Amino acid sequence: MKNRILLSSWLILGIACTSAKTETDDWLKKGIDTAAAQLKSMTEKTRANADTILLPRSVRTTFDTAFITHQLGRAFQESEPEIPGSKTGEIRFCSTIYDWTSGFFPGSLWYMYELTGNDFFKEQAIMHTNLLNPVKTHTGTHDLGFMMFCSFGNAERLARNDTIAPILQQTADNLITRFDPNIGCIRSWDFGPWNFPVIIDNMMNLELLFHVSRQSGNPEYKRIAVTHANTTLKHHFRPDASSFHVVSYRNDGSVECRQTFQGKANESCWARGQAWALYGYTTCFRETGDTTYLDMAKNIATLIMTRVTTDDAVPFWDYDAPDLPETPRDASAAAITASAMLSLYRLTSDSKYFDYAEKILKNLSSPVYLASAGSNQGFVLKHSTGSLPHGSEIDSPLNYADYYYLESLKKYMDIRNLDYKNL
Ligand code: GLY
Repeated sequence: MKNRILLSSWLILGIACTSAKTETDDWLKKGIDTAAAQLKSMTEKTRANADTILLPRSVRTTFDTAFITHQLGRAFQESEPEIPGSKTGEIRFCSTIYDWTSGFFPGSLWYMYELTGNDFFKEQAIMHTNLLNPVKTHTGTHDLGFMMFCSFGNAERLARNDTIAPILQQTADNLITRFDPNIGCIRSWDFGPWNFPVIIDNMMNLELLFHVSRQSGNPEYKRIAVTHANTTLKHHFRPDASSFHVVSYRNDGSVECRQTFQGKANESCWARGQAWALYGYTTCFRETGDTTYLDMAKNIATLIMTRVTTDDAVPFWDYDAPDLPETPRDASAAAITASAMLSLYRLTSDSKYFDYAEKILKNLSSPVYLASAGSNQGFVLKHSTGSLPHGSEIDSPLNYADYYYLESLKKYMDIRNLDYKNL
């Protein structure tokens, strides 16, 4: 009897010790190893010459006017100007460090360093992050959080030094120059016909402000972040928790119009916008403990889980796009959603968020979305969509799809207490 008890304890202990990793985790190792090989090969392409290092953004795709018109049910707007020297199938590098996506490749290198512990990725991450140092003085966009928190923010977490906190604080100081107290929002864009445009993506820049508030002890950054989140909560959402893309305000704070820029229609659900909203309000709850944000995040999560009807949970580029085999997916929206759902799981312990994120990650790690090593111009994931109405980056790899995929894998490993070395 005693032996049997000892044996069963041993068995239970044995199961407990190995339960963190299961045979079905092969997809995870495959995802990380493939991403590592892809990022390594990408670092071999980023040095243009002795003085210039480039930041990869996507792969240039062609578009067909009739196809876009059919997807939109209306005429398409206009394509982005052709980048000199960039042809279909070639890498599209950020044209300057002020491209809104410039922080994602450095950020992916940081996550790969964190996932694998391989110092090669740390050295590359430092080199590519340092390129963005001049962005700290920029005031021309709201995207400063994306650019600087994904790069320098991860640098501060993983290789802290005295220079990084001042860089992030200066960036936050510049971001809040775009805040209008009468409107209660940070202005998104300086182009276009709108009086004061705010896009749902802007919720992603608040994490930088929360962080700098905590680091500096100055509550002003957090106050602005909270005010922006509250104004957006009031004006950006429909009753089903779906989000408009663009809300423009008059100077007195009233709404001038609600529109789309990258979605199918003003009233449609642009897929990445819903993912930004989920991530943004989940972050706001984590940072403030205010359950209004948690309720919003849960409602957005329910919307996503209900309205994404594809078998693999990787959405069409817009939830209201035609349900056709040729309709482009947006793997970036799926990756952002997975990351946000994993955070929501951490905050609520509700397994439905974990299960949904796991489903997305397993599918993104399948050959349908995960590039085979040496292909896809060095990007990790295939099948994202940048801006279909502009004929831009349709069914293309995107640096932010890769970034949020790697971020999600890291969160997933942490939740399951997995170590790459034991996979
Ligand atoms: N922030 C721009 C985009 O999501 O495409």
